[in-house]
Amino acid sequence: MRREVVIVGSGIAGLYCALLCAQHSRVRLVTKNTIVESSSSYAQGGIAAVLGTQDRFSKHIGDTLRAGAHHNNRHTVKLVVQEAPQHIQALIDLGVQFSLDPRGKLDLTREGGHSKRRIVHVHDMTGQAVEQALIAAVRHHPNIRIQENELAIDLIKRRNRVVGLQTVKGYYYADAVVIATGGAGQIYPYTTNPPVVTGDGVAMALRAGAKARDLEFIQFHPTAYYLPGKQPFLLSEALRGEGAYLRNHEGKRFVNELLPRDKVSRSVYRQQRNGLVYLDFRHRSKSFLLNRFPGIYQRLAQDKLSLEKDLIPITPVAHYLCGGVHTDNHGRSSLPGLYVIGEAAHTGLHGANRLASNSLLECLVFASRTAKYLTRIQAHHQHFKAKKMNLPKPDDTSIGLRQQLQNVMWEAGGIIRSAAGLTSGVQAVRAIQASLDPRQVELRNMAIVAEAVLTAALKRRRSLGCHYRVN
Ligand code: FAD
Ligand code: SIN
Repeated sequence: MRREVVIVGSGIAGLYCALLCAQHSRVRLVTKNTIVESSSSYAQGGIAAVLGTQDRFSKHIGDTLRAGAHHNNRHTVKLVVQEAPQHIQALIDLGVQFSLDPRGKLDLTREGGHSKRRIVHVHDMTGQAVEQALIAAVRHHPNIRIQENELAIDLIKRRNRVVGLQTVKGYYYADAVVIATGGAGQIYPYTTNPPVVTGDGVAMALRAGAKARDLEFIQFHPTAYYLPGKQPFLLSEALRGEGAYLRNHEGKRFVNELLPRDKVSRSVYRQQRNGLVYLDFRHRSKSFLLNRFPGIYQRLAQDKLSLEKDLIPITPVAHYLCGGVHTDNHGRSSLPGLYVIGEAAHTGLHGANRLASNSLLECLVFASRTAKYLTRIQAHHQHFKAKKMNLPKPDDTSIGLRQQLQNVMWEAGGIIRSAAGLTSGVQAVRAIQASLDPRQVELRNMAIVAEAVLTAALKRRRSLGCHYRVN
């Protein structure tokens, strides 16, 4: 019998893991929307790796630790940094055409917290390019079965071991379940994350009894373009890496734009008390900006704004879950049979605040390490039992509860937190949870993760990294 691995999620972690697992196992890739829908597809800045002659592993390690307020696992940081270049090469071999400099070498850009230029990118649409290459490879692989528009509901456990996955279509019993469901940005009203990112995998793992860590460290990205009533749109940190300024309502620069994100976000947030804050790239030419940042340029053009002429209004928004389901360096969670990779995992790489462009890197490294580890496991019992689950459609009440939950999170678990705010936030989230029908799957998952974030934030009394408390 051949081993069967079920992977949940089709972001870069899930796709890369599927492709590598398919070398030795049959893979079922379950994803709740179309295969492209994920945070990965919207990633702009790029992937960090030591590739330049001026750079050193020790510098990337040092930058990662500094950004993470030294709350990181040093061993994990070291192995991720050292394994990075081989995965960039693997992506190139799969056909990803990273942007090149005028000499025909990889164009390395810079973002906040990096002491060197070390970020490979495809203009400002890196995630889309990597996803496309991985999707093409996965679609053509005879050992991978892709199941789109299939929501995973829960893990199946037998005697403290995860033995399968329940989805809206039924029960899949498999040799290993890999959660690659991404973060939980949707628990906030303002986020860069797409609507599918509702914390499902983290909530499933918590319900099953897996250990999670560092959930209080929610990273807020300092520069989203935001107009009231519209979904925020990320203005990549690479804009600042290439020289864009931040200006307050008086037109003055107020912060070193290339500090790690937590510091810049708080600084922008404070300036917003006095008025609008802007990104300013008017000192660069249209041809440079259009060529280097075509996605951002075109999005702003829809609102009749141009980077070379206009100040662009910005705001910090929820961006990244630094913690997650705790795993070892083979993707193993505390529950036998359950593996977690990508943003849903806590590997110890990011510490208290993730360094820019280290997330896609973490997805690649741990997808690969997990796939490798899975060659060691035996094939057991595999089968599928169909049982369709009918879920209620969102109605005014559930939409209202979702907004209520998001607003509680912005107030209580936002950029600046307090003991009183967190305490009342936990109570409010619990009250929302109590009123939910368990078949409101995503909303229930959001509430579970929201409560876990607030509880963790309440326990950590001192500010650290992107967890900032006034009392
Ligand atoms: P995702 O890419 O979020 O994929 C999760 C997948 O799981 C999706 O396919 C989703 O549909 C599926 N799923 C979720 N729940 C279920 C369920 N219940 N059942 C079935 N399927 C489910 N990081 C960088 O390193 N560099 C960058 O330049 C960068 N830019 C970014 C820009 C934006 C706008 C955003 C939002 C993030 C960015 N990040 C960047 C962060 C990075 O993109 C993410 O952390 C990373 O892509 C997460 O990948 P993932 O595979 O873990 O999860
Ligand atoms: C960005 O392009 O600013 C996002 C990069 C990241 O999240 O690492």
